[in-house]
Amino acid sequence: MAKLKIILDYPPMKLVARAEASRGIGAAVATVSEPVGTPYRTRVSAFGPPMDYEPESTTVWSFPERGSWATHNGTYRGNWSPYVPRNLILKYTVEGDTVLDQMCGSGTTLVECKLLGRNGIGVDINPQAVDLTLRNLDFDTGDRRHQTRVYVGDSRNLNDIQNESVDLIATHPPYAGMIAYSRRTIDGDLSALSVPIFTTEMYQVARECIRVLKPGKYCGILIGDTRKHLHYVPISFLVENVFLKAGFLIKEDIIKLQWKAKGTRERWRGKSYDFYKIAHEHLFVFRKPKAEEKLSEFKLSSCGLLSVVASVGGCSQTGSADNLLRDVGAGAQPFTHGPDPR
Ligand SMILES: C[S@@+](CC[C@H](N)C(=O)[O-])C[C@H]1O[C@@H](n2cnc3c(N)ncnc32)[C@H](O)[C@@H]1O
Repeated sequence: MAKLKIILDYPPMKLVARAEASRGIGAAVATVSEPVGTPYRTRVSAFGPPMDYEPESTTVWSFPERGSWATHNGTYRGNWSPYVPRNLILKYTVEGDTVLDQMCGSGTTLVECKLLGRNGIGVDINPQAVDLTLRNLDFDTGDRRHQTRVYVGDSRNLNDIQNESVDLIATHPPYAGMIAYSRRTIDGDLSALSVPIFTTEMYQVARECIRVLKPGKYCGILIGDTRKHLHYVPISFLVENVFLKAGFLIKEDIIKLQWKAKGTRERWRGKSYDFYKIAHEHLFVFRKPKAEEKLSEFKLSSCGLLSVVASVGGCSQTGSADNLLRDVGAGAQPFTHGPDPR
């Protein structure tokens, strides 16, 4: 009962129509720096990537040219290259399937859905991002077979989406507070949260993902890491863990190289530090198990992994480095090995 209440506390989704967006639904929200109003229709010169495009076949993806077909452009801060959702959509869905991006930003995923004949559902907490998504969708391919729905809403409460109705989730959350999307002006914006609270809330996102996804289907999440006090903070590792905890299996961990990334790269440019600049993100692909599957087979690709780590014991990190070393059993005492468990 308590868990259900948490979900109900998040605001319900609100479907937004194109006419509403063209009146400037987001105009009052001083957030992203996009102008509100003019559709991009006239700027579309190509409905797909260059002719030599081939879908990815390895677990390292790199797009030095981010992709500028249809209405795609890089002006929404931190938006993903259209090659990312295109690859996921082509690999994991067929025409007529339904794809969800519940943190849709400028609508990159939904534009790809429209171009590839998939039904798209987009959600963003920021009305101005939804406005931008609708403008980016305002071009005509001549294909009327597929539908797109765009909502202002919270990815922790997808109340308008039925259980087990989605064929693919392709989404790109904020990386905790690395880019403050609404500059803390919108309640529920996950980019306003510290890493620990962000992680807790991403668990609610993961629970909604597993609820709406059809059994056996896939959920792709792109997420990056950061540094604090010059040390690595693996946000991606935390997000992977909460998705496993919600019941997903990990199918892929794809390294996506970053090009022209603002943030870490720019901040440290020209300076010399004792660490490497972060130039990659993780694209996790999770799979929702089917009801009849024998989960014991996937123990090392599921939350079973977490119990393996837990069985090692752990450190409680109570203040000083001395305490930390004592907690992990590596204080002043030399390391001693027990009998080989094999
Ligand atoms: C990294 S951006 C997504 C960019 C998108 N992939 C694109 O190509 O434009 C993350 C988005 O998550 C949205 N967001 C933050 N908290 C949210 C929440 N609780 N529910 C839904 N969207 C949220 C932000 O407004 C932002 O647009």
